[in-house]
Amino acid sequence: MTDTDRIALAFSGGLDTTVCVPMLEEEYGYDEVVGVTVDVGQPAAEFAEAEATAAALDLQHHVVDGKAEFAELCFDAVRANAAYQGYPLGTALARPVIASAILEVAQREDCAGLAHGCTGKGNDQLRFEAVWRDADMAVVAPIRELGLTRTYEQEYAAERDLPVSGGKEGTYSIDTNLWSRSIEGSELEDPSHVPGEDIYEWTTAPGEATRELAVGFENGYPVSLDGQEMEPVAFVEELNDVAGGYGVGRSDIMEDRMLGLKVRENYEHPAATVLLSAHRALEDLVLTREERAFKRRVDHEWAEKGYQGLVDAPLVRALEAFVETTQTRVTGTVTVRLEGGQARPVGRDSPYAVYEAEASSFDTEAVTGDVEQADATGVAKYHGFQERLANSIIDGQE
Ligand code: ARG
Repeated sequence: MTDTDRIALAFSGGLDTTVCVPMLEEEYGYDEVVGVTVDVGQPAAEFAEAEATAAALDLQHHVVDGKAEFAELCFDAVRANAAYQGYPLGTALARPVIASAILEVAQREDCAGLAHGCTGKGNDQLRFEAVWRDADMAVVAPIRELGLTRTYEQEYAAERDLPVSGGKEGTYSIDTNLWSRSIEGSELEDPSHVPGEDIYEWTTAPGEATRELAVGFENGYPVSLDGQEMEPVAFVEELNDVAGGYGVGRSDIMEDRMLGLKVRENYEHPAATVLLSAHRALEDLVLTREERAFKRRVDHEWAEKGYQGLVDAPLVRALEAFVETTQTRVTGTVTVRLEGGQARPVGRDSPYAVYEAEASSFDTEAVTGDVEQADATGVAKYHGFQERLANSIIDGQE
């Protein structure tokens, strides 16, 4: 510990991080806790709760705006079609942004340590510490290190009259940011339990209504909605609102966490669903078959590192170089139909389409240049030659 004896805490005002404040002072001997809340698009009520709790705890409290940086990272993820087991990585991508912002405050405020309220079972402890352990500071995780349970924390908070209210600490454990809303815990921990409508806040149950949207891309980045240019943060907020109204972007998955424990996760991510499906549809038009196939592998690796909170890994930089090369042609517009809770691409247009209607058409004789349909006859004769030969050998052995 340095002479300042101060520690920066990732602070949300929820039960875990509120309990961490007295713990850091009493169990770990820090003189002062500096609470840091990073805005990655949580609802306003969460900031109000964090502010109120910080005031009641007499905590020095910083709020840092990380929305623009986070939205940029989400759009990088769109270029890499990033999803882990069906989850578009909202929480995962937000963590490195939050961790770096907290580290900056800690350095500025001359803190000797960094703390988070994550448990020892989830992914977030790993994502935070991947960023923090690069700095020359102590890293403290009271909930994990002291082996605390939620029930113990509630009793501890009640005994000390800590300001933990209902609000966010309702039935479920919820994590919300621009890119996704995750709902876990309570009866959802039973994978056979069918969740009720009450778990959803961003999406309404899909009905009969439909709507078409035009999503514009430039170099793989989403840039416009129905012809109107938009900045990333506003774009995502607007699209969450619009597509959420059609029940788009719900997922209910069994997710394999980094430590190996499975977790049943429910998510809402309307904007991510629309942008990811539109982006992929545009790639299908402008990339060659081999590029498409190889990019699936690159995308998969990108999403794995994204899930791990390691978007700065050398591997990701290398993958990004490939992504960048392919995305120079991912410019154009995709029409997406919101229908029955789905976002289905129903039209695509790009100046870089690897497509000639004239060549592919069933109504024209010529293919291209002096190539004609009949030229495929030789290819058709060869096709499957090796398979036919191998099968005749296998059949002869039987
Ligand atoms: N399982 C997801 C992840 O690790 C989301 C976790 C969100 N946390 C929560 N308390 N709902 O990225």
